[in-house]
Amino acid sequence: MPILQPDQIYQLLRNLTSPVVAITSERGGKRNGMIADSAVRASIVPAIPRVSVYVHKFNYSHDLIFETGHYVLHLLRDDQFELIHRLGFTSGRARDKLAGVPHRPGTLGVPVLDDCYAHFECRVANVMDTGSSTCFLGDVVAVGHGAADRPSGTVMTAAQFAAERSHDIRPVVWTSLRQP
Ligand SMILES: Cc1cc2nc3c(=O)[nH]c(=O)nc-3n(C[C@H](O)[C@H](O)[C@H](O)COP(=O)(O)O)c2cc1C
Repeated sequence: MPILQPDQIYQLLRNLTSPVVAITSERGGKRNGMIADSAVRASIVPAIPRVSVYVHKFNYSHDLIFETGHYVLHLLRDDQFELIHRLGFTSGRARDKLAGVPHRPGTLGVPVLDDCYAHFECRVANVMDTGSSTCFLGDVVAVGHGAADRPSGTVMTAAQFAAERSHDIRPVVWTSLRQP
């Protein structure tokens, strides 16, 4: 059997890419949101809906979900880049990332975003420690549709998001390489 190089393995693993979702959490009046591309359906039994998501331990959301056992997973529309930028690149430890993002408290008290395709309110049923992250397995306790429909047949992936942003890349000259 041929030995695969890391980049070949990565190309194979990319077939497992999940859609980009927004995860919200709340603890003691502090609300937060983050972006994840590691969420998957975690049940084959329609009567027991479950989802799982890997959250890095250095994320503020990790603390909130780990300590409360609650989170809300939002399926997004294909054009919610501003929300992805807002929630996915800075930490809520320093500022309230949901300020100005329309939302309301869900049945678990965790923020539910108004603008999404659908949301799943989850109560953590179990966790798996991966070392750098925790996989949160959540029982879905409430579901709702968002304000707008998702364009059919398209799933936004992290790679697609990166490709969109690549058009904005401007050449930067590293200071050490500048001519005197
Ligand atoms: C496209 C995309 C996918 C991401 N996927 C994950 C993920 O699956 N798990 C994770 O822990 N962080 C993921 N992140 C990073 C977090 O969203 C990011 O670290 C965020 O700032 C965490 O915010 P917090 O510290 O307020 O929780 C992703 C970010 C982007 C933009």
